[in-house]
Amino acid sequence: MSAPTLDRRETAAVPDEAALQAHFDATIAADRRVEPRDWMPEAYRAGLVRQIAQHAHSEIIGMQPEGDWLLAAPSLRRKAVLLAKVQDEAGHGMYLYSAAETLGADRADLTDKLIEGRQKYSSIFNYPTLTYADCGVIGWLVDGAAICNQVPLCRSSYGPYARAMIRVCKEESFHQRQGYELLMTMMRGTDAQRAMVQDAVDRWWWPSLMMFGPPDDDSPNSAQSMAWGVKRHSNDELRQRYVDMSVPQAAALGVTLPDPELALDPETGRYRFGRIDWAEFKQVISGNGPCNAERVSRRRAARDDNAWVLEAATAYADKHAS
Ligand code: 3HC
Repeated sequence: MSAPTLDRRETAAVPDEAALQAHFDATIAADRRVEPRDWMPEAYRAGLVRQIAQHAHSEIIGMQPEGDWLLAAPSLRRKAVLLAKVQDEAGHGMYLYSAAETLGADRADLTDKLIEGRQKYSSIFNYPTLTYADCGVIGWLVDGAAICNQVPLCRSSYGPYARAMIRVCKEESFHQRQGYELLMTMMRGTDAQRAMVQDAVDRWWWPSLMMFGPPDDDSPNSAQSMAWGVKRHSNDELRQRYVDMSVPQAAALGVTLPDPELALDPETGRYRFGRIDWAEFKQVISGNGPCNAERVSRRRAARDDNAWVLEAATAYADKHAS
């Protein structure tokens, strides 16, 4: 429910910044939604553009790893399912760029910032998809991590972002199920297929844990983001939820997660896990991951090679606007 806009009597004289800030603070404290037409602190707006743009960029770049397997999918059914998933990611990017535009951002400008390295996208998409089993593991582990991270965002304080997440999360659950079903099928196959699945799990498990961001004591944005109700849980809290969800799923699948320290803590009922390689994480988000250069250059080519489409559509719209 969005905050009641200021009563007319209250707006007879334009309220001063202190009154506007007090109204914003009361909206957040009452866990009500902030909407595009509402006054908001510039830092709140800029912080939302930062996170929503990164999220949107992640969805669009995230089309590449699985998109590489569209022509090599082993059956028409697998190709159709993978195509539907990759197309969904494009749609998620569009919802999120639209949410960013309600904050005054421009999607072409955001894309330029991504390509110039001035905005980030999720670290996870900088790893290669070496075999077809990677498509199943991305669905199971990466989209599973995205679900853990995105469900709380359905309650984000900024209306357009929260509403975009509701549609995204419904589609993410299809993404995770199709990946898990693909892996189940392979695990019932040959020894070679089982080995292919285990190899993919070994390569994607630790980068999936990194998706949730740095540890809480090294997360400069979390405290303010949670105070504003943009983020509802800390990076470590969501990472722990994800581990607790994934361990039984791995057991049911018959794969081993590549962490010898993984163990159920009988006191807490949560799984303890090993140390994450944060040096690797910092390298990847600084642009030095295995696929960063390839992912960004393909995004640049998509922007430049298709610029004529945008120009033609814009010219048509301008011509018919009058
Ligand atoms: N990849 C790249 N950069 C990351 C990162 C990651 N996995 N985790 C953190 N960072 C960056 C942050 O952007 C921040 O840099 P910045 O200030 O320049 O933006 C820095 O590392 C410090 O991290 P913080 O924890 O302080 O940053 P946040 O509070 O923004 O938390 C986040 C990071 C948890 C990723 C948060 O931004 C978030 O929840 N974003 C929205 C969800 C999202 O982006 N999900 C992942 C991709 S979508 C996806 O998976 C698609 C699915 O269909 C497969």
